[in-house]
Amino acid sequence: MSKPRLWITRKLSDNTEARAKRDYDVVLNPSDALSTADDIVRMSAEVDAIIPCHSEVFDEATVSRLDNRLKIVANHSVGVDHCDLNAFAKKGICVTNTPDVLSDATAEIAMLLLLGAARRAAEGDAMVRGGDWQSWSPSFMVGTQVTGKRLAIIGMGRVGQVMAKRATGFDMQVHYHSRNRLESDKEQGATYHSSLESLLSNADFLSLHCPATDQTKGLINKDTLAMLPDGAILVNTARGALVDEAALLDALESGKLAAAGLDCFATEPGGNPLFASHKNIMMLPHIGSATFETRDAMGFRALDNLDAFFAGIKPTDKLV
Ligand code: DGY
Repeated sequence: MSKPRLWITRKLSDNTEARAKRDYDVVLNPSDALSTADDIVRMSAEVDAIIPCHSEVFDEATVSRLDNRLKIVANHSVGVDHCDLNAFAKKGICVTNTPDVLSDATAEIAMLLLLGAARRAAEGDAMVRGGDWQSWSPSFMVGTQVTGKRLAIIGMGRVGQVMAKRATGFDMQVHYHSRNRLESDKEQGATYHSSLESLLSNADFLSLHCPATDQTKGLINKDTLAMLPDGAILVNTARGALVDEAALLDALESGKLAAAGLDCFATEPGGNPLFASHKNIMMLPHIGSATFETRDAMGFRALDNLDAFFAGIKPTDKLV
């Protein structure tokens, strides 16, 4: 029997591509070029399956134009805000994602940004690197201590739970708000808040770990930022769409927020140029899951979902 034809839209890890080549008639993208909606529609007539990343947009208009040959979109991402799942359901195309395997890597970046924003790491690095470190005194580069502070988490899913665990290593007191309260063994001592307002009033640090949906887009805005204690620090490793960036800038400029650590932006790639002059923002280019181990694990998880689908078994991570 001939192998299903698979298009992998971006350059994935060598191990992922080797396994894909072994098991599928695979179309790779060695140049790693981005695909347009027209490319996606054209390729959908040539393949049975696509492994895309969050960089390929499957909005309603694009999904409605997909060819009937395409049977499954096995995302190489946990977030699926780039996919209109209702449109896929209408088309009868299966959609999967890659949960679990990137939780450790993403929590590492969240912790890095939390620590870096609190202790002015980006500012200090730029100063030393730029040859601008000219003096030292006890009042120099003083930041916010992390140990023992309250960490508020929005979205206590897989990444949020790992973040909570890592934070306890710094003796932080973890508070959270999520769609559902966790079972007590999973809470591991964290305090649940049924309202966002109650959570935010307890946030020395606020870390976002919820998906970007119609309900959560713009969740961090002028009103919710005002609910934070003065001098709080925001960390976002989830999605840029969760944050109203103009309101965030206002809060940083007024001193309402002491700092922010951002791995995600409303506009990606690129970020927000208005952030560049603010030394109290530590920024990374959406690399939460970018470790060698996690890239292999994400690729393998996407392939596991494809293998199950083509074996006639429901993929573990089937969303549609
Ligand atoms: C994800 O998996 O959603 C990460 O943001 C990388 O795409």
